[in-house]
Amino acid sequence: MLLWTVLRATISPLCDAAGYGQVSLQEQLSMTDQSNEVTESFYRCRRDGHFVDTFYDLFLSKSTEIAQKFLRTDFRIQKLMLRQSLLEMICFDRGMPGTREEIERLGRSHKELRIAPDMYSMWLDALCEAIRKHDPDYTPELEQLWRHAMLKSINEMISAGGSQESSGC
Ligand code: HEM
Repeated sequence: MLLWTVLRATISPLCDAAGYGQVSLQEQLSMTDQSNEVTESFYRCRRDGHFVDTFYDLFLSKSTEIAQKFLRTDFRIQKLMLRQSLLEMICFDRGMPGTREEIERLGRSHKELRIAPDMYSMWLDALCEAIRKHDPDYTPELEQLWRHAMLKSINEMISAGGSQESSGC
C-alpha cells in the first residue's frame, strides 16, 4: 500500500505530463468536445501554484480531529496526490470511463484511515473556500457547480467505504 502510494504520487504526474501509457486525465479532459466550467475553474485555481496549499491550511484548521489525522503526513506527496484526485473527481463527474474504480479505491482507503462521513462536508467547505481565494472568476453559482461535481465522488467514496461512526482519534 505504501509502495503504491509513493509510486502513484511520483509516477502518475510524470506520466500525465509525458503522455505515456494510458491517455492521461488532462488529455481526456481536453479531448471532450465541450469545455466545462468546473474544469476551467480548476485550471484557473492552479495558476498561482498555491491552491492546494491554501486548501490544506483551511482544511486542517476546521477541527483538531482533522489536524490530528495528518500529524505524520508528508505534505509534498499528499498535495501531489490531492491535485491528481481532484482531476479524477472532475473526470468522474463527467462520466469518463475508468474513473469510478479510482474513486471507489479512495473510499476504501479512507475507510481504513477511519475517516467519518461528516468530515467530508468540512473537506468540501475548505475546497470551496480555497476556490473563492484562487479563482478570479469565482461566483456563488460556480461554487454550486463545484459542490455538485465533488458530491458525486464523495457519495461514491462514502458508499464504497461503508458507513461508520467518527473514530474520535
Ligand atoms: C473527497 C475527498 C477526499 C479526497 C479526494 C482525498 C484524497 C486523498 C488521497 C489521494 C490520499 C492519498 C492516499 C490514497 O490515495 O488513498 C489521501 C490520504 C489521506 N486523507 Fe484524504 N481525501 C479526501 C477526504 C479526506 C477527509 C475528509 C479526511 C479527513 C481527515 C482525509 C484524510 C486523509 C488522511 C489522514 C490521509 C493519509 C495521509 C497520510 O498519508 O499521512 N481525507 N486523501
